[in-house]
Amino acid sequence: MNDDLLIEAIYLFNKHFNQEGKSDLPENIEVAVLRILAANNYISYDNNFIITKVNYQNLEKFKNQINEEALPENIKNISPVSFFDNITDIEYEIYSRSNYSVSFKNGLKLAELINFNDLKILDIGGNSGGLASAIASKYLTSHITVVDTKIPCEIGSEYKEVNNLNNINFICDDLFTFNLEKYDYIILSNIFHDYNDKDVRRILKNINTHLDDNTKVIILEDILDNEIGPIDVVMHGLRLSINTFYGKQRTINELNILISEIGLNLLNKEKINQVQSIVVYTL
Ligand SMILES: C[S@@+](CC[C@H](N)C(=O)[O-])C[C@H]1O[C@@H](n2cnc3c(N)ncnc32)[C@H](O)[C@@H]1O
Repeated sequence: MNDDLLIEAIYLFNKHFNQEGKSDLPENIEVAVLRILAANNYISYDNNFIITKVNYQNLEKFKNQINEEALPENIKNISPVSFFDNITDIEYEIYSRSNYSVSFKNGLKLAELINFNDLKILDIGGNSGGLASAIASKYLTSHITVVDTKIPCEIGSEYKEVNNLNNINFICDDLFTFNLEKYDYIILSNIFHDYNDKDVRRILKNINTHLDDNTKVIILEDILDNEIGPIDVVMHGLRLSINTFYGKQRTINELNILISEIGLNLLNKEKINQVQSIVVYTL
């Protein structure tokens, strides 16, 4: 899998970069390509990505070895559409049904790390409630509200009935503008990496109105330790940016700076698998 991701980065480098290392790609996609090349030692990084003439020529050698036909269509033709703006209802339903078990596993990890007993939790963009269900079934005295769009909320409500979970509810609303109450915990799992900094700030502005003095905010996603590592995380950044068009991976430092704009500070960071981490922020 990592080989395919490396080939995609080399393909985009050959197609879009000139010898001076400048590209015609959007900045988030350009950085994702450079991170993969640097993490795999094709170029170097020293506070900036360094593309020498030798780097450029070495990477050009791959041109004829890449089977263009086998590449994903959206790598060959990058288009300014985000995954969730471009999917049909049936695709949205399939996504939301399959997301349940994936995010349930993450919810189990989160429920191991944090005691949610008697707490009020908000899961923003919680899809069909997989993560929320893992918490709700372990902490029966907690209550979790999931905010998402219509289709995931409908599927989540169906699963909630099947699983007989009374401590979850689904609210179909826009994550940029919903207006609810204050919560003990606010969770954003795989949300911020779908957006550019401007949109993350819009989400944070709305979150700010749902915080009280003790609220903690949990971010779960593929966070980088630094600009080019860990490599397993870096390798996922390119498809993320291509699929969301505006999305990007952030280093923990970049995330801390953005989140500090609403007065939140890093409390704890824990890796939950090869790619994803859970980061907890508090006022
Ligand atoms: C990348 S998925 C993350 C799902 C889940 N939290 C996880 O960790 O797997 C992004 C979620 O945000 C939801 N979403 C996208 N745009 C939204 C919007 N404007 N308002 C509410 N939810 C939205 C999608 O339906 C989807 O469930």
